[in-house]
Amino acid sequence: MPSIRNVLSKDMAGKKTLIRGWVYRTRSSGGIVFAVIRDVTGIMQVTVKKGAVPQEDFDSALKAGIESSVIVEGDVAEDKRAPGGYELRATSFKVVGYAEAFPITEYQSTELLLDLRHLWIRSREQTAVSRVKAALLRGAREWFHDNGYVEVTPPIVTGVAPEDSTTLFQIKYFDRIAYLSQSAQFYLESLIFSLEKVYSVTPSFRAEKSRTPRHLAEYWHMEMEAAWVENEANMEVQEQLLTAMLHNAVAECSDELKLLKRDPARFKKIEPPFDRMDYSEAVEFLQKKGHQMSWGLDLGAVEERALTIDRELPVFIINYPKELKPFYMKENPADPRTYKNSDLLAPEGYGEIIGGSERETDNARMIAWLEEKGESLDNYKWYLDLRKYGSVPHSGFGMGIERVVTWVCGLEHIRDAIPYPRTVARVYP
Ligand code: 4AD
Ligand code: MG
Repeated sequence: MPSIRNVLSKDMAGKKTLIRGWVYRTRSSGGIVFAVIRDVTGIMQVTVKKGAVPQEDFDSALKAGIESSVIVEGDVAEDKRAPGGYELRATSFKVVGYAEAFPITEYQSTELLLDLRHLWIRSREQTAVSRVKAALLRGAREWFHDNGYVEVTPPIVTGVAPEDSTTLFQIKYFDRIAYLSQSAQFYLESLIFSLEKVYSVTPSFRAEKSRTPRHLAEYWHMEMEAAWVENEANMEVQEQLLTAMLHNAVAECSDELKLLKRDPARFKKIEPPFDRMDYSEAVEFLQKKGHQMSWGLDLGAVEERALTIDRELPVFIINYPKELKPFYMKENPADPRTYKNSDLLAPEGYGEIIGGSERETDNARMIAWLEEKGESLDNYKWYLDLRKYGSVPHSGFGMGIERVVTWVCGLEHIRDAIPYPRTVARVYP
């Protein structure tokens, strides 16, 4: 069965073909039904003329409302007014499953669309987003594979909190308490002592109470960790990986990007190296722009927006003050108030998509930090062991897949970068 995109793109005019899909819109006038059919690749107009199909098929076409599933046979004919420039003149129109009156019409509230998410994900925009996301992930996996990384499968149920312990989801785990993973990082770190270069793609969970357009409670996290890699090389991996992902999205999904009103050329142009801006420089830049900013304050959505709004390429902000970041990062010998770390910010105001760092190898420093924060050392014993048996310089990072999708697809809200967004307010459907 040819896809709609194939029927429209090949020179099929005058040829007989079969398409199958769902009714996207339909109207009838006199003895003709004009039905637009969609499949995963696009939409195509079908005309069903009384007399040109068996009467039973014509009656079916009249009855088949939006979202009915159909198989249509007919002749491809040029028609300038039809989407894609061609239509299919039906000789047979079979309904596989009739649709009841579809509850989603043109202007719907965000809440209703979230309640009806299981139906709304059929929209052309959501379909395009899903395909772009898959192309980004495929580009990443290919890049990792080509560069000698091993994909690994860390646990999701865990006893450690690599990131902010206030955003942990607790679960009842038999007769104990456990947490849903915020990051696979510690497990990836343990795997580099044999596999050297590893990555994983897993869900990560953050009990973020704040409702923002860039936070999900459950998101897909692509993380990498590699032995013998210092902070600068870690950033080189990030810029190469991201470039490969973007270029693959352009190669596989330029139609989808256009449908989302994103110019594929914008992403094709993106190549390493990306600028590196010291946190201190970022503070100065923001002060000059009139932001209430001083050294030691975190960069939030507003500041990240100001730093990236006029950029075409992502930018690394490096060497953050220690107070702003977790204990596992390596102290920066050039300025021990800071870490050897980087956040990668997407351009056009989108902000942080990756957080990464070189890792601390000095157990004494990490223990002092954990004790100061009142953390139980028992929970971290295994992690601290990693520095005792053949420790090496190493680095890694985590990329928020939905953050990347939000930017690439030009979305206003991160919830549209995932089929079933999990937020403070919502676990249904
Ligand atoms: O910056 P984060 O917290 O870093 C880590 O978790 C490291 N342990 C990763 C590592 O080095 N292996 O999270 C990494 C990325 C962020 O840059 C952001 O893109 C994304 O994960 N992220 C979220 N995405 C959606 N919703 C949330 N609530 C997110 N929190 C983080
Ligand atoms: Mg971060």
